[in-house]
Amino acid sequence: MESVNVAIIYYSATGNVHALAHAAAEGAEKAGAAVRVRRVAETAPARAIGSNPAWARYREDHADTTEAALDDLDWADAVLLGTPTRYGNPAGQLRAFLETTGPLWFQGKLADKVYSAFTSGSTPHGGQETTILALSNTFYHWGGIIVPPGYTDPVQFRTGNPYGTSHVSGPPGHQEPPGPETLQAARYQARRVTDTAAALKKGRATG
Ligand SMILES: Cc1cc2nc3c(=O)[nH]c(=O)nc-3n(C[C@H](O)[C@H](O)[C@H](O)COP(=O)(O)O)c2cc1C
Repeated sequence: MESVNVAIIYYSATGNVHALAHAAAEGAEKAGAAVRVRRVAETAPARAIGSNPAWARYREDHADTTEAALDDLDWADAVLLGTPTRYGNPAGQLRAFLETTGPLWFQGKLADKVYSAFTSGSTPHGGQETTILALSNTFYHWGGIIVPPGYTDPVQFRTGNPYGTSHVSGPPGHQEPPGPETLQAARYQARRVTDTAAALKKGRATG
């Protein structure tokens, strides 16, 4: 059977969600998926980026990253979206990309795919769950099949977010990147998404 196509589409300003996205890619690849990891375009003004040295450094270090395109969604059997939390919501940069998907949505090309989401925030109760749930609104509109990690693997009991992998990065200037357990949760989430998409693809091919 054809392999499962997994698109990991994310926004990251200072690297935390970037690390989760790449761990998710490892998990999906290990589960046998063809994977595209794509960051959405930056939309913030240079003045805002320049006001935060960590943001400016990340931009410089990853200037040559391939940007997400509508074709990545079209290609995918499963999509993982990653975003920092912004006042308890997904980042505007990711929303801006999602708001270009009308033509695909209108043709029914976003329906029936598997969707899942992950996030990072600076404080433990800073809105990680509301951010992931907010993305679910979009998945519902698309007619997507939402696959959360739940508590379906031991790592989930240690990292503790059934909605999607979440990192607590700490306050500005003192941020810590995701540690091994959180990266493992991201790998696990992507594996579960890949396995579910593979089962659906197989069932649709034979059914
Ligand atoms: C405008 C703005 C709003 C933010 N809102 C929240 C928030 O509501 N809750 C929270 O925990 N962190 C919040 N943060 C912090 C980021 O979500 C956090 O630093 C995150 O780990 C950054 O991920 P990144 O390194 O991938 O960009 C906010 C940051 C900015 C710049």
